[in-house]
Amino acid sequence: MREMWLKRFVPKRIKRPLKKAARRRQLNRAVSRIAGLAKDEMPSRDLLSELIIGWDNEGYVANLDYLEEVARSSIQTTGNILECGSGVTTVLLGLLCARRQIQVWSLEHSSEWQERIAEALETNGISNTHVCFSPLIEYDRFTWYNPPFTQMPKEFSLVVCDGPPGTTRGGRFGLLPVMIDRLTEECVILLDDAGRPGELELIKRWEAEYDFRATRIDRSNHSFAMIRRA
Ligand SMILES: C[S@@+](CC[C@H](N)C(=O)[O-])C[C@H]1O[C@@H](n2cnc3c(N)ncnc32)[C@H](O)[C@@H]1O
Repeated sequence: MREMWLKRFVPKRIKRPLKKAARRRQLNRAVSRIAGLAKDEMPSRDLLSELIIGWDNEGYVANLDYLEEVARSSIQTTGNILECGSGVTTVLLGLLCARRQIQVWSLEHSSEWQERIAEALETNGISNTHVCFSPLIEYDRFTWYNPPFTQMPKEFSLVVCDGPPGTTRGGRFGLLPVMIDRLTEECVILLDDAGRPGELELIKRWEAEYDFRATRIDRSNHSFAMIRRA
């Protein structure tokens, strides 16, 4: 009854900041619960769901099934992690890898978004994670990030591939031509949105040109793929 009254009579200019503050509290709660998990302990789906809601970036945030796989794979991996396209995934990776000797390097083409994620990492005391402003540049056959190679680790054993945006020339294709020498033999690529036409096409090209193999995982209206060397 009280909620209905609030919904009807409280003006938007008051409701919006209240909602924002509630989301912020939810995010802080989820972050501290994840930070408090035992080393190698998997966050529950409820906790990940709370993290997504608190992050409050609908339309761009990772879907729950993908986020769960990101968490599982990051706990299992023993080497450094490369991320393409930063966001709540960056915060989650940072939290889960904090107590292991694993570095997370995230490439971000938007300077404003990079600043926002760097601030979120700093506020939450996450220091093993680097979010790099990495503008999109033109390569022969595609457009992709310009990674800070001299500063980055020599090898990565997990790639969380959720960028650059689908409107980029070649989409996410550039990952393999640009980064293949830095991916370990056992490296796993977690490609989000694997059911979209652009991603289906790039999977075919990665398989044909680089001899990688994809396993597609289809969950309620959403697909992602786990991709490894054949
Ligand atoms: C699919 S998003 C990456 C999301 C990230 N993996 C996550 O789970 O939060 C890919 C890119 O979209 C951009 N982006 C994220 N949120 C945005 C927003 N609210 N508006 C416009 N661009 C956004 C960022 O540049 C980001 O690298």
